[in-house]
Amino acid sequence: MKTFEDKRTALIQLPYAREQGSRKVLWIITDIHLLSPSLYRVGEGSFSFLHQHNLGKLFEAMPQAMKEFRELALSEHPDYVIIPGDLVLNGEAESLFEIEELLSDLEAQGIHIAVIPGNHDIDSPYPYSFLEEEPAKTDPVSYELFMERIGRFGYCQAFSKAPATCSYALAIDETLWLLALDANTGEVPNTVDNSTLAWAKGILEEAEKKQINVISLTHQNVLPQSTFMIKGFVLANAEEIRDLLVKYHVALNLCGHSHLQHRSQYESLTDICTGAACVWPLGFAVLAVDETNGECLYQKREFSDHQEAAIRRMEELIERLLARMQVEEGCGEEEKAEMIRFADEVVRRNFSDMLEDRESYLSQPGWQLWNKYGKNDPSFRQLSSILLAEEGDAHIAAGVFSEKNAG
Ligand SMILES: [Fe+2]
Repeated sequence: MKTFEDKRTALIQLPYAREQGSRKVLWIITDIHLLSPSLYRVGEGSFSFLHQHNLGKLFEAMPQAMKEFRELALSEHPDYVIIPGDLVLNGEAESLFEIEELLSDLEAQGIHIAVIPGNHDIDSPYPYSFLEEEPAKTDPVSYELFMERIGRFGYCQAFSKAPATCSYALAIDETLWLLALDANTGEVPNTVDNSTLAWAKGILEEAEKKQINVISLTHQNVLPQSTFMIKGFVLANAEEIRDLLVKYHVALNLCGHSHLQHRSQYESLTDICTGAACVWPLGFAVLAVDETNGECLYQKREFSDHQEAAIRRMEELIERLLARMQVEEGCGEEEKAEMIRFADEVVRRNFSDMLEDRESYLSQPGWQLWNKYGKNDPSFRQLSSILLAEEGDAHIAAGVFSEKNAG
C-alpha cells in the first residue's frame, strides 16, 4: 500500500474499474456520543460523576462540533454521510432527537445519510440525566424508537434488508454498494448472526456477478486494531465475516467503536477504524472514491475548536489511570509528573495514530525516568511495546491504558 506522510491517510484499491465512472465523496463520522445539553449543566448536579466517567470524551463540545460538521457538510456537500454507530452517549431519547434533527437538515439539502446502530444506541442500561445530585434515569431509546427516528437514514433506502437485524445493502450508485452489517440488534450482542451472514453472502454474490464494488460498514472492528483491545472491540465472529468479505473481494470495511484511529490489513481487506468524533483529535474522515480507476483515498479532518480541551480530557484520563503507578524508591513528585506527561503524549498520539518519529522519544528525559523508576509498573511494558515495536506494528499497541468497556 502506498505510504503517506500522515499515517491516517490511506489509498485503497477497489477491485473493479469503470471506463466512465463517477467520483463519490463519503464522509465518515463515528462514535459521536452526543449527550443532549438538556440532560446536564456544566459544574452542577451530578456533572462531576459524568466528568469522571467519560473515557476521554469531550461530550460538552459535541453540540458545537456537530454544528460545525453541519456547516461544513452544507457548504461542501458530500454525496454521503456515513455513521458507523454510537450516535448518543448511552441511549438517551433526548440525545437521539437532536441527532435526528441534524441528519434531517443534511438530508433536506440532498446529502444522503447511512447509519447503523452502535452498542450504545439501543436499549442501553444507562440512559441518564445529570441535572440532580445523583444521575437519574431518563427516557431510553428502544429498537422501535431508533427505527422510527433514524431508520430512514440508510435502512429505508436500502434495496435489500437482512431478515433479523438492521443490516442492509444500499446502492450509492449503479456501480458502488454499501453493505451495512449490524451486530447490535440481533440475539447475540457483538455478533453478525447467521441469517444476516447468509443474506450478506447473497448480496456479495450478486455484486460479484455484476462487477459492482462493495464497501462494507460495521460498528465493531472486523480486524484487530490493537493488541490490547480485542475482546469486546472486535466482532465475536470476526473471522467468519473477514473471510466472507475477502472471498467476495470487499477491499474496505469502515468501522468505529474502539474510539482509536487505526487501520489493519488482512490479505486484500483493509479495515479502517475511524477515531471517535468526541475524542481528541475531534473530527471525522473523508473518503473520495474514484470509480474510474477504483481508487479510494481516505483522509482525516479535524474540527477547528476545542482541540486543546480534548487533549486535556485525555490527559485527565491517563493521569487517573496512572494515579497508582508503581515507582522505585527515590522517585520524587517532579519525576513522577514528568513520567506521566511523557506517557500521556506517547499514548494519546499513538491512540490517534499520530505518533511520529518514535525513536526521538527514546532519548527524552521522560523515557529515561521510566527506565530508572518505572520498570515494575505494568504501563512500562505497554509503553515499550509502542516505542520499540517494529515499524508497521508501531501503532498496533494503540489500546494501552484503555479502560474496560470503552467504545
Ligand atoms: Fe463508542
